[in-house]
Amino acid sequence: MQSAYEKTQFNRQQIEKMLDEFGSPLFIVSERDLRERYGVFADALLRSYEHSAVAYSFKTNYLRKVCETLKNEGARAEVVSGFEYGIARNIGYSGKDIIFNGPHKTELELREALADGATINVDCMEELEMIQSFARSGATPPHIGLRLSSSKVARMTRPDGRGALPHRFGFNIENGDALKAVRWTKEHGPHIRTIGYHIHIAVDEPNPAVFVRAAESAIIFAQQVEREVGYAPTYIDMGGGFVEAELWERKKDLASAAIPSLEVFLGGVGAVVRGARFSSPPMLIFEPGRFIVSRSTVHITRVVSVKNMGTRKLLTVDSSLSILPTATTRRHKISAPGIAGPLVKSIVAGASCMARDVWGDYDLPAVRAGDILVVENCGAYSLSRSSQFITPRPAVVWISIDGIISLARRAETPEDITRLDISGGR
Ligand SMILES: Cc1ncc(COP(=O)(O)O)c(C=O)c1O
Repeated sequence: MQSAYEKTQFNRQQIEKMLDEFGSPLFIVSERDLRERYGVFADALLRSYEHSAVAYSFKTNYLRKVCETLKNEGARAEVVSGFEYGIARNIGYSGKDIIFNGPHKTELELREALADGATINVDCMEELEMIQSFARSGATPPHIGLRLSSSKVARMTRPDGRGALPHRFGFNIENGDALKAVRWTKEHGPHIRTIGYHIHIAVDEPNPAVFVRAAESAIIFAQQVEREVGYAPTYIDMGGGFVEAELWERKKDLASAAIPSLEVFLGGVGAVVRGARFSSPPMLIFEPGRFIVSRSTVHITRVVSVKNMGTRKLLTVDSSLSILPTATTRRHKISAPGIAGPLVKSIVAGASCMARDVWGDYDLPAVRAGDILVVENCGAYSLSRSSQFITPRPAVVWISIDGIISLARRAETPEDITRLDISGGR
């Protein structure tokens, strides 16, 4: 499989030219790759279940051109804050094509989203009560979704080693909170009604059985609700969480062969939803992020210095973990275009002046200060999580489907960062 970088076919001279024009380091996004990945996902979903929709997870990368491109491809928007909701509205999404998730929505944001006809997946009792309190005065009763969690399914996911609680969001099925919430809406009706269920449970999950079990849990719950309360679900939203194969392959503990195809993941869930009996078939929604955008973006950085470190070379580059937050948590593919010769054991490290800004061990040709490194699969959780720690953030270049180069985001200036500060102490 060709990577986005290989598809763009840039040689060293072309990259040098872009660095001269836009500065180093630099992100380069391939529109072609973005569209292709969206197509792969949307087609596979359609084959697994016809009445379906893809809602792109904005937090993965909300660069305007990325969101606009995916909107043009037919993606709905999945947002997790009022800020992201605003981005979606600004690029022309109507409320009905926005799914509003997340554990913190203000009253103002909820009122606006309800008035726009957005799908709201409620996270907690406090949010439900807030909606109820202002719904009483409204003409149309709000139809809302509930985010569900399942401790049983969460136990099937891989521990991330950093203490994540995959079932901390939404209403727990097993402890009865989810059913209590639905009953509460019924008792407090007719102002509020639950019409859908959301159950994002995993991150980078290589096991399709986790998705199937999550779908089964949501379906069994939804059937119980329909029997008991009479509300039939109009949608089952499975969230995201698909593995980025390119990064996974390079994880030391797992072979790429361990990851089944997307068809297996989506087909399993599609079969569960198809087999469920409801008064009318619900829509099946997925909210992929990483799977769609990761591959589209490469990061270009220059070597600043080369030091000897025992048998290895230490290459410090002009980027950092603030600019590319996934550099130290993921195994990105790194190459040195245009440089030949025997491979040397090299440690790549960022320039943030943090001892832990170490990106990993790589076999690279002998590079010198000023040489270029290309870091692949940088589209997910990088631009949206980057910070201005120590340096302003670099430019993002867009390569259109016809190969036209333009800016998707200009490089930040020091003034961009300091202009919100207020001077003068006492
Ligand atoms: C609610 C929700 N939907 C979708 C996603 C996207 O997940 P991914 O990028 O792993 O596909 C996330 C990410 O954590 C999420 O929290």
